[in-house]
Amino acid sequence: MDYITIAVAKGRIANITIKKLEENGLIFSDFKNSRKLIFEDDNSKIKIILVKADDVPIYVEYGAADIGIVGKDTLLETDCDVYEIFDLGYGKCRFAIASLKDFEYKKGKKLRVATKYPNVAKDYFNKKKEPVEILKLNGSVELAPIVGISDVIVDIVETGTTLKENGLVILEEICPVSARLISNKASYKSKSDRIYEIVDCFRRHMNENDIC
Ligand code: PRP
Repeated sequence: MDYITIAVAKGRIANITIKKLEENGLIFSDFKNSRKLIFEDDNSKIKIILVKADDVPIYVEYGAADIGIVGKDTLLETDCDVYEIFDLGYGKCRFAIASLKDFEYKKGKKLRVATKYPNVAKDYFNKKKEPVEILKLNGSVELAPIVGISDVIVDIVETGTTLKENGLVILEEICPVSARLISNKASYKSKSDRIYEIVDCFRRHMNENDIC
């Protein structure tokens, strides 16, 4: 049996993913407290590679991984040629527009929007036919309205703590986000049985909270 390789977004998604696979009896013994990027379970012949979230679709599209696990936020932002095959339900958060509490929208004035997700933001405001100027940042987006370089932000909100602690409030919610399982198109044909075994593994260990 060949190995099946899963590219997993480093961080919280990887921690939950490994936990769920271990609940199915797989063993990635040195995962905790390690800086390793490749983990293998010999019995099930499953190999995990840990990559930055934005890179998961690339590893999958180009066949370095058969399948990938990454947030829907990344998939909405990235143009990639992969199949999205299962909503894993965990890693839940939402896309929202937020501003400082006292922000007043002046009709006719072009909004300046700071975000790590320029495509998501562009798409949302285009659909609303609202002209905006997008400012692409790489993190700590909540700072932008505080220091006066943007009117609003488009970002993911999980607990809401970052917004609250920085004096921002949600103006509008855009859409919910959760972790998704994606597949390389060729692997989907050649390894579909094994891919669906893995999907079943996750399905068996979905919590009530995970059901979308
Ligand atoms: C994400 C997101 C928010 C925060 C939301 O940032 O961009 O800033 O988490 O989480 P909360 O609602 O639970 O507070 P991340 O931690 O990835 O850091 P970054 O802003 O540096 O990208």
